[in-house]
Amino acid sequence: MAESLAEAVSRRRTFAIIAHPDAGKTTLTEKLLLFGGAIQLAGEVKAKKDRMQTRSDWMKIERERGISVVTSVMTFEYNDNVFNILDTPGHEDFADDTYRTLTAVDAAVMVIDAAKGIEPRTLKLFEVCRMRDIPIITFINKMDRESRDPFEILDEVEEKLALDTAPITWPIGRSKTFCGSYHLANSTARGSDTEVETTPVNGPRAVADRLPENERQAFIDETELAIEACRPFDRDSFLEGHMTPVFFGSALRNYGVRDLINALGEFAPPPRDQVADTRTVHATDDKMTAFVFKIQANMDPNHRDRIAFARICSGKLERGMKARLARTGKQLGLTAPQFFFASQRQLADTAYAGDVVGIPNHGTLRIGDTLTEGESLVFQGVPNFSPEILRRVRLEDAMKAKKLKEALQQMAEEGVVQLFSPEDGSPAIVGVVGALQLDVLKERLMAEYGLPVSFEMSRFSVCRWISADQPADLEKFLTVKRGDIARDLDGDPVFLAQDAFSLRYEAERYPTIKMVAIKEYH
Ligand code: G4P
Repeated sequence: MAESLAEAVSRRRTFAIIAHPDAGKTTLTEKLLLFGGAIQLAGEVKAKKDRMQTRSDWMKIERERGISVVTSVMTFEYNDNVFNILDTPGHEDFADDTYRTLTAVDAAVMVIDAAKGIEPRTLKLFEVCRMRDIPIITFINKMDRESRDPFEILDEVEEKLALDTAPITWPIGRSKTFCGSYHLANSTARGSDTEVETTPVNGPRAVADRLPENERQAFIDETELAIEACRPFDRDSFLEGHMTPVFFGSALRNYGVRDLINALGEFAPPPRDQVADTRTVHATDDKMTAFVFKIQANMDPNHRDRIAFARICSGKLERGMKARLARTGKQLGLTAPQFFFASQRQLADTAYAGDVVGIPNHGTLRIGDTLTEGESLVFQGVPNFSPEILRRVRLEDAMKAKKLKEALQQMAEEGVVQLFSPEDGSPAIVGVVGALQLDVLKERLMAEYGLPVSFEMSRFSVCRWISADQPADLEKFLTVKRGDIARDLDGDPVFLAQDAFSLRYEAERYPTIKMVAIKEYH
């Protein structure tokens, strides 16, 4: 019998992995895909990354600096669940991309290096998750190496993140003697992840003999203490973002990953409600709705295509259906939506709420776009961050100004940079949140458009979106400040200031003008 919409939706788990670089996000992703049968051999995610790197020149940046620039999605099935992992760039210069990706997930896995604890990026990403009430499952990785005491790590999570912890498993052994996990509530144990099923045991004492003699009593004592002293897992508290279930493991050596996948299936929520301008959309609503949170170009240089990654928020997407693009009101044929697996893409004949599909297009779709089956509705909340760095693009060959304009427009639509056109007609200003984005822009303008460019300081360093309750106030400000006003890609006005001081000064002089650092796409 065909699966109902409600059944299909309830099986979906869409999540991101958040971590400080080097904590093991890539390795864990690889293992999740491996156990999910999406790849045959671990190593393929990295191998794939390498292949892609050699494909196009701008990705040299990634290779040279050893960072992951590419965000993408990967789907796999495990037991009864369909998992969509949304990958996020680890480097903070691409933070805006990461934040937008986090608008498209229902849960997150926070990977912590057992020796290092909470690191700065982890903290920052966690804060974004908290703002959005995204429930978090914690995976303490690298238990096969010298690590901190598990209680100490739990304390750090509680203190630094103000998040209750509920250890679900406890590590059996440490570093060289680490050999599996003990389930605190169920009294079961699992060695490495090659053991698909856990083994029922009669308390921690019954697994202690897996350890060298001199470590046994300590293991029994601390496990008993964990059972007694740690909070029991409360799913409601987890779903509200107040509590995180904690797992210990080693992604590299295949420990704890199965515990984690099972937890994602069991604890993580199915696709959440999404807020739109006219109503709240429920995942099980019949009609399809979706929003675009990411555009990626040149996934396959042979096709020079752009892929818009759309998170389906409700209903069912069927290949060939027509969707209404809210921004323009135009119809768009979804002729070739795609799913992404570790090493391949596949046409998506049917996709459900929670799924993420790639929609190939030639510039029709932008970040923040809403797609519906006809309803006039716009999803809120995909953020656009005011840039930290503003530059003018200097072209070596002035004859190519028109080509540059087109190229910058495309890059801005993809979210690589933001583009601001000054009202006084002076050349466009590009804005980025991190310097590496400028490097990406430069490389791509050269590789894809044959445009050698350099960047010049702009006289502005701060940018804010502006609005006013009274249109006349805004009009007046726009006229008086014409030399400091520009329009973004959507034509929305921004105020450009020399520095934070002059921004504050103008904000005080014009109290009716709202100046905001984050704009939500509309
Ligand atoms: P990231 O995506 O979060 O940046 O981390 P990644 O998975 O690339 O892992 C960073 C390094 O940590 C890698 O080593 C990886 O092999 C190692 N690692 C990941 N998980 C574990 C674990 O559970 N135990 C141990 N001992 N190491 C782990 P590398 O030498 O930097 O890279 P590679 O040459 O091994 O690829």
